[in-house]
Amino acid sequence: MFGGQPQQYNTSDDVDKDRIRFIAKPTREPPAHAQHTRGGKLLTDTLLKWRSEFPILDKTVYLISHSLGAMPRAVFESVQEYAETWATRGVRAWAEGWWEMPVTVGNDVAQIIGADPQTVVMHQNVSVCQALILSCFDPTPKRNKIVYAELEFPSVQYVYEAHARDKKFRIETVKSDDGMTIPTERLLAAIDEETLLVPLSHVLFKSAFLQDARRITERAHEVGAMVILDTYQSAGTVPFSVKELNVDFATGGSVKWLCGGPGAGYLYVRPDLQTRLEPRTTGWMAHEAPFAFESGAIRYAPDITRFLHGSPSIPALYAARSGYRIINEIGVAAIREKSVRQTTNLIELAEEAGFNVTSPHDSSERGGTITIDSEHAAAVTRELIRREFIVDYRPGAGIRISPHFYTKDEELELVIRELKTIRDTRAYASHDTARAAF
Ligand SMILES: Cc1ncc(COP(=O)(O)O)c(C=O)c1O
Repeated sequence: MFGGQPQQYNTSDDVDKDRIRFIAKPTREPPAHAQHTRGGKLLTDTLLKWRSEFPILDKTVYLISHSLGAMPRAVFESVQEYAETWATRGVRAWAEGWWEMPVTVGNDVAQIIGADPQTVVMHQNVSVCQALILSCFDPTPKRNKIVYAELEFPSVQYVYEAHARDKKFRIETVKSDDGMTIPTERLLAAIDEETLLVPLSHVLFKSAFLQDARRITERAHEVGAMVILDTYQSAGTVPFSVKELNVDFATGGSVKWLCGGPGAGYLYVRPDLQTRLEPRTTGWMAHEAPFAFESGAIRYAPDITRFLHGSPSIPALYAARSGYRIINEIGVAAIREKSVRQTTNLIELAEEAGFNVTSPHDSSERGGTITIDSEHAAAVTRELIRREFIVDYRPGAGIRISPHFYTKDEELELVIRELKTIRDTRAYASHDTARAAF
Protein backbone atom coordinates (compact mmCIF):
# COMPACT_ATOMS: atom_id res chain seq x y z
CA MET A 1 0.00 0.00 0.00
CA PHE A 2 1.22 3.54 -0.54
CA GLY A 3 4.70 2.80 -1.82
CA GLY A 4 5.52 0.10 0.70
CA GLN A 5 4.64 2.02 3.84
CA PRO A 6 1.79 0.53 5.86
CA GLN A 7 -0.98 3.08 6.03
CA GLN A 8 -1.50 4.74 9.37
CA TYR A 9 -5.16 5.44 9.94
CA ASN A 10 -5.92 8.73 11.53
CA THR A 11 -7.50 8.14 14.90
CA SER A 12 -8.67 11.67 15.52
CA ASP A 13 -11.80 12.22 17.58
CA ASP A 14 -13.95 13.21 14.65
CA VAL A 15 -14.13 9.55 13.69
CA ASP A 16 -16.98 7.92 15.50
CA LYS A 17 -15.10 4.94 16.94
CA ASP A 18 -18.02 3.83 19.05
CA ARG A 19 -20.14 3.27 15.98
CA ILE A 20 -17.39 1.18 14.42
CA ARG A 21 -17.01 -0.82 17.61
CA PHE A 22 -20.74 -1.40 17.71
CA ILE A 23 -20.99 -2.94 14.28
CA ALA A 24 -17.66 -4.71 14.47
CA LYS A 25 -18.38 -6.38 17.80
CA PRO A 26 -16.85 -9.88 17.76
CA THR A 27 -19.65 -12.38 17.35
CA ARG A 28 -18.49 -14.48 20.24
CA GLU A 29 -20.74 -12.16 22.21
CA PRO A 30 -24.29 -13.35 21.56
CA PRO A 31 -26.62 -12.86 19.82
CA ALA A 32 -24.35 -13.57 16.89
CA HIS A 33 -26.61 -14.10 13.92
CA ALA A 34 -29.63 -11.99 14.57
CA GLN A 35 -29.89 -8.58 13.01
CA HIS A 36 -32.69 -6.21 12.11
CA THR A 37 -33.54 -5.56 8.48
CA ARG A 38 -34.38 -2.08 7.25
CA GLY A 39 -38.06 -2.83 7.82
CA GLY A 40 -37.32 -3.74 11.43
CA LYS A 41 -37.80 -7.47 10.80
CA LEU A 42 -35.50 -9.74 12.76
CA LEU A 43 -33.36 -11.71 10.37
CA THR A 44 -31.19 -14.66 11.22
CA ASP A 45 -27.99 -14.58 9.24
CA THR A 46 -26.12 -17.77 10.09
CA LEU A 47 -23.11 -16.68 8.04
CA LEU A 48 -22.33 -14.00 10.61
CA LYS A 49 -20.98 -16.72 12.91
CA TRP A 50 -17.85 -16.57 10.74
CA ARG A 51 -17.09 -12.98 11.74
CA SER A 52 -15.03 -14.04 14.74
CA GLU A 53 -12.67 -15.86 12.35
CA PHE A 54 -11.60 -12.58 10.73
CA PRO A 55 -9.67 -10.25 13.05
CA ILE A 56 -9.93 -7.15 10.87
CA LEU A 57 -13.72 -7.10 11.24
CA ASP A 58 -13.29 -6.08 14.87
CA LYS A 59 -11.57 -2.89 13.84
CA THR A 60 -12.97 -1.73 10.52
CA VAL A 61 -16.02 -1.82 8.29
CA TYR A 62 -14.39 -4.08 5.74
CA LEU A 63 -16.10 -3.80 2.36
CA ILE A 64 -13.26 -4.52 -0.03
CA SER A 65 -13.33 -8.27 -0.72
CA HIS A 66 -13.17 -7.52 -4.48
CA SER A 67 -9.58 -6.41 -3.78
CA LEU A 68 -8.21 -8.09 -0.67
CA GLY A 69 -10.51 -10.39 1.28
CA ALA A 70 -10.18 -10.36 5.07
CA MET A 71 -7.53 -12.66 6.52
CA PRO A 72 -8.86 -15.72 8.35
CA ARG A 73 -7.49 -16.02 11.88
CA ALA A 74 -6.32 -19.57 11.03
CA VAL A 75 -3.64 -18.12 8.72
CA PHE A 76 -1.52 -17.35 11.79
CA GLU A 77 -1.40 -21.11 12.45
CA SER A 78 -0.85 -22.16 8.83
CA VAL A 79 2.08 -19.84 8.38
CA GLN A 80 3.49 -21.05 11.70
CA GLU A 81 3.04 -24.64 10.49
CA TYR A 82 5.00 -23.79 7.35
CA ALA A 83 7.87 -22.36 9.41
CA GLU A 84 7.86 -25.32 11.80
CA THR A 85 7.89 -27.81 8.95
CA TRP A 86 10.84 -26.07 7.38
CA ALA A 87 12.62 -25.73 10.74
CA THR A 88 12.14 -29.32 11.84
CA ARG A 89 11.87 -31.39 8.67
CA GLY A 90 14.24 -29.38 6.50
CA VAL A 91 14.67 -30.72 2.99
CA ARG A 92 12.50 -33.76 3.78
CA ALA A 93 9.50 -31.40 3.67
CA TRP A 94 9.53 -31.58 -0.14
CA ALA A 95 8.84 -35.32 -0.12
CA GLU A 96 6.43 -34.98 2.80
CA GLY A 97 3.96 -32.73 1.00
CA TRP A 98 5.55 -29.57 -0.34
CA TRP A 99 6.26 -30.94 -3.81
CA GLU A 100 2.63 -32.02 -4.23
CA MET A 101 1.15 -28.81 -2.88
CA PRO A 102 0.47 -27.09 -6.22
CA VAL A 103 -1.89 -29.98 -6.94
CA THR A 104 -3.24 -30.76 -3.46
CA VAL A 105 -4.03 -27.10 -2.81
CA GLY A 106 -5.37 -26.90 -6.38
CA ASN A 107 -7.86 -29.61 -5.40
CA ASP A 108 -9.33 -27.27 -2.75
CA VAL A 109 -9.76 -24.58 -5.41
CA ALA A 110 -11.23 -27.14 -7.82
CA GLN A 111 -14.10 -27.69 -5.38
CA ILE A 112 -14.88 -23.95 -5.40
CA ILE A 113 -14.84 -23.55 -9.19
CA GLY A 114 -16.64 -26.81 -9.99
CA ALA A 115 -13.66 -28.68 -11.43
CA ASP A 116 -12.60 -32.29 -10.85
CA PRO A 117 -9.65 -33.09 -8.57
CA GLN A 118 -6.30 -33.15 -10.41
CA THR A 119 -7.40 -30.53 -12.95
CA VAL A 120 -6.16 -27.38 -11.18
CA VAL A 121 -2.58 -26.34 -10.38
CA MET A 122 -1.35 -23.43 -8.30
CA HIS A 123 0.81 -20.64 -9.66
CA GLN A 124 1.74 -17.21 -8.45
CA ASN A 125 -0.82 -15.13 -10.32
CA VAL A 126 -3.15 -14.77 -13.29
CA SER A 127 -0.65 -12.94 -15.50
CA VAL A 128 1.74 -15.89 -15.35
CA CYS A 129 -1.09 -18.36 -16.04
CA GLN A 130 -2.20 -16.40 -19.11
CA ALA A 131 1.37 -16.35 -20.44
CA LEU A 132 1.71 -20.06 -19.78
CA ILE A 133 -1.49 -20.82 -21.70
CA LEU A 134 -0.44 -18.63 -24.59
CA SER A 135 2.87 -20.46 -24.75
CA CYS A 136 0.97 -23.64 -25.72
CA PHE A 137 -0.11 -22.26 -29.10
CA ASP A 138 1.40 -21.77 -32.53
CA PRO A 139 -0.62 -19.19 -34.42
CA THR A 140 -1.08 -19.74 -38.16
CA PRO A 141 -2.02 -17.06 -40.71
CA LYS A 142 -5.52 -18.56 -40.71
CA ARG A 143 -5.94 -18.79 -36.95
CA ASN A 144 -4.09 -16.12 -35.06
CA LYS A 145 -6.72 -13.84 -33.57
CA ILE A 146 -7.16 -13.16 -29.87
CA VAL A 147 -10.47 -11.55 -28.97
CA TYR A 148 -11.03 -9.74 -25.71
CA ALA A 149 -12.96 -6.82 -24.30
CA GLU A 150 -11.36 -3.48 -23.58
CA LEU A 151 -12.49 -3.88 -19.96
CA GLU A 152 -10.39 -6.98 -19.31
CA PHE A 153 -8.02 -6.58 -16.37
CA PRO A 154 -5.08 -4.48 -17.69
CA SER A 155 -2.39 -6.95 -16.61
CA VAL A 156 -4.02 -9.61 -18.82
CA GLN A 157 -4.07 -7.23 -21.77
CA TYR A 158 -0.38 -6.44 -21.21
CA VAL A 159 0.48 -10.14 -21.54
CA TYR A 160 -1.34 -10.51 -24.88
CA GLU A 161 -0.18 -7.17 -26.27
CA ALA A 162 3.43 -8.04 -25.53
CA HIS A 163 3.10 -11.41 -27.29
CA ALA A 164 1.41 -9.82 -30.30
CA ARG A 165 4.30 -7.43 -30.91
CA ASP A 166 5.95 -9.68 -33.48
CA LYS A 167 2.60 -9.79 -35.39
CA LYS A 168 2.18 -13.55 -35.14
CA PHE A 169 -0.91 -12.93 -33.04
CA ARG A 170 -3.55 -10.35 -33.89
CA ILE A 171 -5.67 -8.79 -31.16
CA GLU A 172 -9.25 -7.67 -31.67
CA THR A 173 -10.42 -5.53 -28.81
CA VAL A 174 -14.17 -5.36 -28.25
CA LYS A 175 -15.33 -1.90 -27.22
CA SER A 176 -17.67 -0.97 -24.43
CA ASP A 177 -20.27 1.78 -24.90
CA ASP A 178 -20.45 2.84 -21.28
CA GLY A 179 -17.06 1.85 -19.84
CA MET A 180 -18.82 -0.60 -17.51
CA THR A 181 -20.38 -3.37 -19.62
CA ILE A 182 -19.66 -5.22 -22.85
CA PRO A 183 -22.51 -6.03 -25.22
CA THR A 184 -22.47 -9.84 -25.45
CA GLU A 185 -23.61 -9.78 -29.10
CA ARG A 186 -20.65 -7.59 -30.01
CA LEU A 187 -18.25 -10.00 -28.35
CA LEU A 188 -19.93 -12.98 -30.05
CA ALA A 189 -19.68 -11.28 -33.44
CA ALA A 190 -15.94 -10.71 -33.02
CA ILE A 191 -15.29 -14.44 -32.48
CA ASP A 192 -14.81 -16.03 -35.89
CA GLU A 193 -12.96 -18.85 -37.70
CA GLU A 194 -9.68 -16.96 -37.34
CA THR A 195 -9.99 -16.75 -33.57
CA LEU A 196 -7.57 -18.82 -31.54
CA LEU A 197 -8.21 -17.63 -27.98
CA VAL A 198 -10.83 -15.66 -26.08
CA PRO A 199 -9.58 -14.46 -22.68
CA LEU A 200 -12.77 -13.57 -20.83
CA SER A 201 -13.40 -12.14 -17.37
CA HIS A 202 -16.36 -13.90 -15.82
CA VAL A 203 -16.99 -10.74 -13.76
CA LEU A 204 -15.38 -7.48 -14.90
CA PHE A 205 -13.07 -6.05 -12.25
CA LYS A 206 -14.19 -2.44 -12.56
CA SER A 207 -17.96 -2.69 -12.73
CA ALA A 208 -18.77 -6.23 -11.47
CA PHE A 209 -20.59 -6.90 -14.79
CA LEU A 210 -21.22 -10.66 -14.97
CA GLN A 211 -20.58 -11.93 -18.50
CA ASP A 212 -22.42 -14.75 -20.23
CA ALA A 213 -19.54 -17.23 -20.15
CA ARG A 214 -21.72 -20.09 -21.38
CA ARG A 215 -22.88 -18.38 -24.58
CA ILE A 216 -19.45 -16.99 -25.33
CA THR A 217 -17.85 -20.41 -24.85
CA GLU A 218 -20.45 -22.04 -27.09
CA ARG A 219 -19.72 -19.48 -29.82
CA ALA A 220 -15.95 -19.95 -29.44
CA HIS A 221 -16.24 -23.71 -29.72
CA GLU A 222 -18.53 -23.44 -32.75
CA VAL A 223 -15.68 -21.79 -34.67
CA GLY A 224 -12.85 -23.80 -33.12
CA ALA A 225 -11.56 -21.15 -30.68
CA MET A 226 -10.75 -21.68 -26.99
CA VAL A 227 -11.88 -19.73 -23.94
CA ILE A 228 -9.69 -18.75 -20.98
CA LEU A 229 -12.10 -17.76 -18.25
CA ASP A 230 -10.71 -15.33 -15.66
CA THR A 231 -12.63 -16.26 -12.56
CA TYR A 232 -10.80 -13.94 -10.17
CA GLN A 233 -13.86 -11.77 -9.51
CA SER A 234 -16.41 -14.59 -9.53
CA ALA A 235 -14.86 -17.53 -7.64
CA GLY A 236 -16.08 -17.49 -4.05
CA THR A 237 -18.99 -15.12 -4.66
CA VAL A 238 -20.79 -16.38 -7.80
CA PRO A 239 -21.48 -20.14 -8.02
CA PHE A 240 -20.40 -21.77 -11.28
CA SER A 241 -18.71 -24.86 -12.60
CA VAL A 242 -15.90 -24.66 -15.14
CA LYS A 243 -16.92 -28.17 -16.17
CA GLU A 244 -20.51 -27.18 -16.87
CA LEU A 245 -19.46 -23.99 -18.63
CA ASN A 246 -17.13 -26.22 -20.65
CA VAL A 247 -14.38 -23.60 -20.76
CA ASP A 248 -10.97 -24.72 -21.97
CA PHE A 249 -9.00 -22.97 -19.26
CA ALA A 250 -9.80 -20.99 -16.13
CA THR A 251 -7.50 -18.89 -14.03
CA GLY A 252 -7.82 -16.65 -11.01
CA GLY A 253 -6.20 -15.78 -7.75
CA SER A 254 -6.99 -16.03 -4.07
CA VAL A 255 -6.50 -12.48 -2.93
CA LYS A 256 -10.12 -11.41 -3.22
CA TRP A 257 -13.31 -13.37 -2.50
CA LEU A 258 -11.38 -16.51 -1.51
CA CYS A 259 -9.68 -14.78 1.44
CA GLY A 260 -6.49 -16.63 0.55
CA GLY A 261 -3.97 -13.79 0.30
CA PRO A 262 -1.40 -13.02 -2.40
CA GLY A 263 0.78 -15.48 -4.32
CA ALA A 264 -1.80 -18.25 -4.80
CA GLY A 265 -3.03 -18.04 -8.38
CA TYR A 266 -4.64 -21.09 -9.97
CA LEU A 267 -4.94 -22.62 -13.41
CA TYR A 268 -7.60 -25.09 -14.56
CA VAL A 269 -7.04 -27.01 -17.79
CA ARG A 270 -9.84 -29.09 -19.32
CA PRO A 271 -8.83 -32.74 -18.87
CA ASP A 272 -8.79 -33.65 -22.58
CA LEU A 273 -6.35 -30.80 -23.27
CA GLN A 274 -3.91 -31.85 -20.60
CA THR A 275 -2.06 -34.35 -22.75
CA ARG A 276 -2.46 -32.45 -26.04
CA LEU A 277 -0.82 -29.16 -25.17
CA GLU A 278 2.88 -28.51 -24.63
CA PRO A 279 3.53 -25.23 -22.81
CA ARG A 280 6.78 -23.46 -23.71
CA THR A 281 6.68 -21.69 -20.40
CA THR A 282 7.82 -24.72 -18.49
CA GLY A 283 10.30 -26.18 -16.04
CA TRP A 284 11.25 -29.29 -14.17
CA MET A 285 7.98 -29.59 -12.23
CA ALA A 286 6.27 -30.18 -15.60
CA HIS A 287 8.60 -33.08 -16.42
CA GLU A 288 7.40 -36.68 -16.33
CA ALA A 289 10.35 -37.65 -14.11
CA PRO A 290 11.70 -34.46 -12.53
CA PHE A 291 14.08 -36.29 -10.21
CA ALA A 292 15.75 -38.09 -13.11
CA PHE A 293 17.35 -34.72 -13.90
CA GLU A 294 17.51 -35.54 -17.61
CA SER A 295 19.29 -33.08 -19.86
CA GLY A 296 17.88 -31.81 -23.11
CA ALA A 297 14.26 -31.35 -24.12
CA ILE A 298 11.51 -31.77 -21.60
CA ARG A 299 9.39 -34.94 -21.52
CA TYR A 300 6.07 -33.55 -20.38
CA ALA A 301 4.16 -35.13 -17.51
CA PRO A 302 0.96 -36.83 -18.73
CA ASP A 303 -1.32 -34.92 -16.34
CA ILE A 304 -2.06 -31.47 -14.92
CA THR A 305 1.50 -31.14 -13.55
CA ARG A 306 2.53 -30.51 -17.18
CA PHE A 307 1.21 -26.99 -16.56
CA LEU A 308 3.66 -26.24 -13.75
CA HIS A 309 7.14 -24.79 -14.20
CA GLY A 310 9.75 -24.21 -11.49
CA SER A 311 9.63 -24.44 -7.68
CA PRO A 312 6.31 -23.35 -6.20
CA SER A 313 5.62 -20.58 -3.72
CA ILE A 314 5.05 -22.79 -0.68
CA PRO A 315 4.37 -20.14 2.02
CA ALA A 316 1.62 -18.58 -0.11
CA LEU A 317 -0.01 -22.00 -0.51
CA TYR A 318 0.00 -22.59 3.25
CA ALA A 319 -1.57 -19.16 3.79
CA ALA A 320 -4.28 -19.66 1.17
CA ARG A 321 -5.77 -22.91 2.47
CA SER A 322 -7.70 -21.45 5.41
CA GLY A 323 -9.75 -19.22 3.12
CA TYR A 324 -10.58 -22.10 0.77
CA ARG A 325 -11.70 -24.27 3.69
CA ILE A 326 -14.09 -21.60 4.92
CA ILE A 327 -15.52 -20.92 1.44
CA ASN A 328 -15.97 -24.65 0.85
CA GLU A 329 -17.60 -25.14 4.23
CA ILE A 330 -20.10 -22.33 3.66
CA GLY A 331 -20.62 -23.10 -0.03
CA VAL A 332 -20.65 -20.47 -2.76
CA ALA A 333 -24.43 -20.79 -3.29
CA ALA A 334 -25.10 -19.55 0.26
CA ILE A 335 -22.54 -16.74 -0.18
CA ARG A 336 -24.24 -15.65 -3.41
CA GLU A 337 -27.70 -15.66 -1.86
CA LYS A 338 -26.54 -13.27 0.83
CA SER A 339 -24.50 -11.21 -1.64
CA VAL A 340 -27.50 -10.64 -3.92
CA ARG A 341 -29.59 -9.56 -0.93
CA GLN A 342 -26.94 -7.20 0.41
CA THR A 343 -25.85 -5.67 -2.92
CA THR A 344 -29.52 -5.05 -3.81
CA ASN A 345 -29.96 -3.43 -0.44
CA LEU A 346 -26.84 -1.29 -0.95
CA ILE A 347 -28.11 -0.04 -4.30
CA GLU A 348 -31.39 1.01 -2.69
CA LEU A 349 -29.64 2.77 0.17
CA ALA A 350 -27.21 4.55 -2.15
CA GLU A 351 -29.94 5.74 -4.51
CA GLU A 352 -32.12 6.91 -1.62
CA ALA A 353 -29.16 9.01 -0.50
CA GLY A 354 -28.91 10.54 -3.97
CA PHE A 355 -25.86 8.63 -5.26
CA ASN A 356 -25.41 7.36 -8.79
CA VAL A 357 -24.94 3.56 -8.85
CA THR A 358 -22.90 2.63 -11.92
CA SER A 359 -22.69 -1.17 -11.53
CA PRO A 360 -25.51 -3.25 -13.07
CA HIS A 361 -28.85 -3.02 -11.23
CA ASP A 362 -30.01 -6.47 -12.30
CA SER A 363 -28.44 -8.97 -9.90
CA SER A 364 -28.24 -11.61 -12.65
CA GLU A 365 -25.76 -9.32 -14.43
CA ARG A 366 -23.72 -8.44 -11.34
CA GLY A 367 -20.99 -10.05 -9.25
CA GLY A 368 -20.47 -9.19 -5.59
CA THR A 369 -19.56 -5.51 -5.88
CA ILE A 370 -21.50 -2.32 -6.35
CA THR A 371 -19.92 0.86 -7.65
CA ILE A 372 -21.03 4.36 -6.81
CA ASP A 373 -19.94 7.30 -8.86
CA SER A 374 -19.73 10.54 -7.02
CA GLU A 375 -18.00 13.83 -7.61
CA HIS A 376 -14.57 13.72 -5.95
CA ALA A 377 -14.90 9.92 -5.63
CA ALA A 378 -11.16 9.34 -5.11
CA ALA A 379 -11.02 11.92 -2.32
CA VAL A 380 -14.23 10.62 -0.75
CA THR A 381 -12.70 7.13 -0.76
CA ARG A 382 -9.61 8.39 1.08
CA GLU A 383 -11.80 9.99 3.70
CA LEU A 384 -13.87 6.83 4.10
CA ILE A 385 -10.70 4.82 4.63
CA ARG A 386 -9.45 7.34 7.17
CA ARG A 387 -12.69 6.69 9.03
CA GLU A 388 -12.05 2.91 8.92
CA PHE A 389 -14.54 2.15 6.16
CA ILE A 390 -12.35 0.12 3.84
CA VAL A 391 -13.40 0.46 0.19
CA ASP A 392 -11.56 1.53 -2.96
CA TYR A 393 -11.89 3.64 -6.06
CA ARG A 394 -11.49 2.90 -9.76
CA PRO A 395 -11.46 5.66 -12.38
CA GLY A 396 -14.54 5.45 -14.59
CA ALA A 397 -16.51 3.32 -12.12
CA GLY A 398 -16.27 5.22 -8.84
CA ILE A 399 -16.21 3.83 -5.32
CA ARG A 400 -16.27 0.02 -5.20
CA ILE A 401 -18.11 -1.49 -2.22
CA SER A 402 -18.30 -5.22 -1.57
CA PRO A 403 -20.13 -6.98 1.20
CA HIS A 404 -19.06 -10.62 1.72
CA PHE A 405 -20.46 -13.46 3.81
CA TYR A 406 -19.07 -11.79 6.95
CA THR A 407 -20.80 -8.44 6.41
CA LYS A 408 -23.57 -7.23 8.71
CA ASP A 409 -26.54 -5.40 7.23
CA GLU A 410 -25.87 -2.48 9.60
CA GLU A 411 -22.52 -2.00 7.93
CA LEU A 412 -24.27 -1.24 4.65
CA GLU A 413 -26.37 1.44 6.28
CA LEU A 414 -23.32 2.86 8.03
CA VAL A 415 -21.18 3.12 4.91
CA ILE A 416 -23.88 4.94 2.95
CA ARG A 417 -24.58 7.25 5.89
CA GLU A 418 -20.85 8.00 6.16
CA LEU A 419 -20.62 8.63 2.41
CA LYS A 420 -23.51 11.07 2.66
CA THR A 421 -21.92 12.89 5.60
CA ILE A 422 -18.59 13.17 3.78
CA ARG A 423 -20.35 14.50 0.69
CA ASP A 424 -22.60 16.94 2.56
CA THR A 425 -19.88 18.33 4.83
CA ARG A 426 -17.27 18.34 2.03
CA ALA A 427 -14.97 16.42 4.37
CA TYR A 428 -13.21 15.00 1.32
CA ALA A 429 -11.72 18.40 0.42
CA SER A 430 -8.34 17.79 2.04
CA HIS A 431 -7.77 14.73 -0.21
CA ASP A 432 -8.89 16.37 -3.41
CA THR A 433 -5.81 15.43 -5.41
CA ALA A 434 -6.22 11.76 -4.45
CA ARG A 435 -6.16 8.94 -6.99
CA ALA A 436 -6.62 5.19 -6.57
CA ALA A 437 -4.30 4.12 -3.74
CA PHE A 438 -4.73 0.29 -3.85
C1 LIG B 1 -10.34 -10.03 -13.18
C2 LIG B 1 -8.93 -9.91 -12.67
N1 LIG B 1 -7.94 -10.60 -13.28
C3 LIG B 1 -6.67 -10.54 -12.83
C4 LIG B 1 -6.33 -9.77 -11.74
C5 LIG B 1 -4.93 -9.74 -11.22
O1 LIG B 1 -3.99 -10.43 -11.96
P1 LIG B 1 -2.66 -11.00 -11.28
O2 LIG B 1 -3.06 -12.22 -10.51
O3 LIG B 1 -1.77 -11.29 -12.41
O4 LIG B 1 -2.13 -9.95 -10.37
C6 LIG B 1 -7.35 -9.03 -11.08
C7 LIG B 1 -7.10 -8.18 -9.91
O5 LIG B 1 -6.14 -8.01 -9.27
C8 LIG B 1 -8.66 -9.11 -11.57
O6 LIG B 1 -9.64 -8.43 -10.97
